Amino acid sequence: MELNETLGDIIKNKEMKNNNLKKNIILLTRKLPEKIEKKLQKVFTVIQNNSDKKYSYKDLKKKIQDVDILIPCITDTIDASLIRSAKRLKLIANFGNGVDNIDLITAGEKKIVVTNTPDVLTDDTADLVLTMILIICRKILLAKSTLINGNWHGWGPNETIGERVKNKKLAIIGMGRIGTAVAERMKMVGMEINYHNRKRVSKKVESMLSAKYWDNLDNLLSYADVISIHCPYTPETFHLISKKRLKLLKKNCIIINTSRGEIIDEEALAENLYKKKLGGVGLDVFEHEPQVTLKLFECENVVLLPHISSATRESRIAMGERVIKNIEFFVRGKTPPDVIEKLRNRY
Ligand code: 8YV
Repeated sequence: MELNETLGDIIKNKEMKNNNLKKNIILLTRKLPEKIEKKLQKVFTVIQNNSDKKYSYKDLKKKIQDVDILIPCITDTIDASLIRSAKRLKLIANFGNGVDNIDLITAGEKKIVVTNTPDVLTDDTADLVLTMILIICRKILLAKSTLINGNWHGWGPNETIGERVKNKKLAIIGMGRIGTAVAERMKMVGMEINYHNRKRVSKKVESMLSAKYWDNLDNLLSYADVISIHCPYTPETFHLISKKRLKLLKKNCIIINTSRGEIIDEEALAENLYKKKLGGVGLDVFEHEPQVTLKLFECENVVLLPHISSATRESRIAMGERVIKNIEFFVRGKTPPDVIEKLRNRY
């Protein structure tokens, strides 16, 4: 069913009309695609953030007081105190997949429903992983700067020697939607697929991806040529790739992280790369965003990106549509499709 049709349905629906959906006050913490904001405005009372500047915690706390539905982003910390202070909040429809910015336990205690936007950003995130692996293995940044800085004096047998991607051992940590999409792409370029996950995926998926399951994370880390992180950030995954575990990695190992910065001990990672105990690093997420461990800027073969994995026109609109779908189900008294139930809190 088309989303604008379903929203249209709501308006047309007599019963819902009587219910007066405009009574529902929605707070948008950031500027979303125009199309999405317009759809929301048509049906609900929307408080927008036209400046798109992140609200301070204090401002957000004030603004959240009298709203029914909150649409936050990763940059908003929705903690216990904020949730408890909201008098009529019923739904937190997160604009994003990861919900580590939200205190799920307090939301649950207050019977506030929390939803996210899975699926719609899977391909774009997996594409970014593929991009970073290729850039790092083939030393594209070094090649580019050699040329741009006027240091290229013609072809040479030893110029900018990278690593062949084919047959390299890839370790995917977290084999959910994104991990699987990464495996699909990397299998196509000839990588050997290995993974660690809370539970083993089906035999069918394993055989489709020619993927090997590793129960023991440490063994997999010491075996891999390339590691890509795809697990959510929870208390269990904080510094999963710790200083101690980084010591298990091969000297030429490459680490990619598009999940959450907190999963890797960033300082230890930078130190290891700086001392050439690693082959390369690709980070789209950081432990203390928007801060980046300065040492990383001094390292070679590092790709640092400002959290852009889902930053495509298509993803942003699809994320917004997914938010609307969740709201639509909720206001109709149905369980939204993307309710967060099982994830552990990071608080
Ligand atoms: C989103 C992300 O853009 O979805 C996620 O979990 O990390 C990003 O790709 C961000 O969360 C928007 O709130």
